[in-house]
Amino acid sequence: MFYLCIPIFIPNLLDNETIFILAIESSCDDTSAAVLRNDTVLSNVVANQKIHEEYGGVVPELASRAHQQNIVPVVSQALAKANIDKKQLSAIAFTRGPGLMGSLLVGTSFAKSLALGLSIPLIEVNHMQAHILAHFIKDESMTTPNFPFLALTISGGHTQIVRVNDFFDMQILGQTLDDAVGEAFDKSAKLLGLPYPGGPLVDKHASNGDPLRFPFPIPKVKGLNFSFSGLKTSILYFIQKNMSEKPNFIEENMEDICASIQYTIVTILMEKLKKAVKETGIKRIAIGGGVSANSGIRKAIKDSEQKLGWTTHIPKFEYCTDNAAMIGIVGFYKFKNKDFSEQTITAQARYVI
Ligand code: KG4
Ligand code: ZN
Repeated sequence: MFYLCIPIFIPNLLDNETIFILAIESSCDDTSAAVLRNDTVLSNVVANQKIHEEYGGVVPELASRAHQQNIVPVVSQALAKANIDKKQLSAIAFTRGPGLMGSLLVGTSFAKSLALGLSIPLIEVNHMQAHILAHFIKDESMTTPNFPFLALTISGGHTQIVRVNDFFDMQILGQTLDDAVGEAFDKSAKLLGLPYPGGPLVDKHASNGDPLRFPFPIPKVKGLNFSFSGLKTSILYFIQKNMSEKPNFIEENMEDICASIQYTIVTILMEKLKKAVKETGIKRIAIGGGVSANSGIRKAIKDSEQKLGWTTHIPKFEYCTDNAAMIGIVGFYKFKNKDFSEQTITAQARYVI
């Protein structure tokens, strides 16, 4: 068997050199490209895939096909918005995993080909690490956490409490044993007849509802781990029981049901976070991932500054849900460490931080 040997392009770096990174994110159902000048975002383009709405969840095969259609226009738009020619790029960063294999393959092969064509370095990025390091994007509206801090990463695929000692020194202290918190939001929303992704809609309806009207049980899970599958089951039984008595129960109580579901989820997350602070003695908290866009969790985190004496960091809205800017900031720090990837690198659906 013959192997084609392709060298890694390692540039000669000057300390004060400006670095331009093109970043690509395609781990799930958003195709995104961003351009960064050092730690500043020049553009961050996200193409959402509406196609999944009618199926009530992400269909992997449709997601990868949509990525194939979107990737070239999204990258072109990101370069145009940043007013950068591809010849000016210093490196290409891409999401290697975790995520859906078919989706990851589109971004990975595109990034590899472009880096090869431009003879510039390739940088692989862990999606969950990127949700955490999004806090290091230079932006007037955000504050950067000091190390060590605790990160609560809450998305459609993950729920983790991570001790972050340094940029690339992270330790998972606890995680979900079944559904991710985003899935808990989306599956509850589906039971209420709301379209996918239901998380933002539950949040919207909850804003005018009574969070204490319908109490749902808080699961008892050991240590800093989470479980959300029981909550989904209790919501299912609650809805079935009430609908059998009043067929219009959901319509008439949508706001209170959503507020009660959101209150329960926020309580579960905050209880574990408080336990993590007690165990580690670390009071610096940063949240990340799509669910950190939720107004209930944002408020609970913010309130803990006064109530519990925590220092908290909440990313700008556009850096909460999946986006390439967060991939770019990891790319920037890896570039500074000269941590480049080989052309033989492959996508990895399961990829632990
Ligand atoms: O990080 P993300 O964009 O993709 C994954 O890596 O999973 O997270 C998507 C998840 C979905 O489950 C979506 O419903 C949830 O984040 N989400 C929300 C809100 N905005 C997005 N959940 C609750 N409230 C929101 N405002
Ligand atoms: Zn994500």
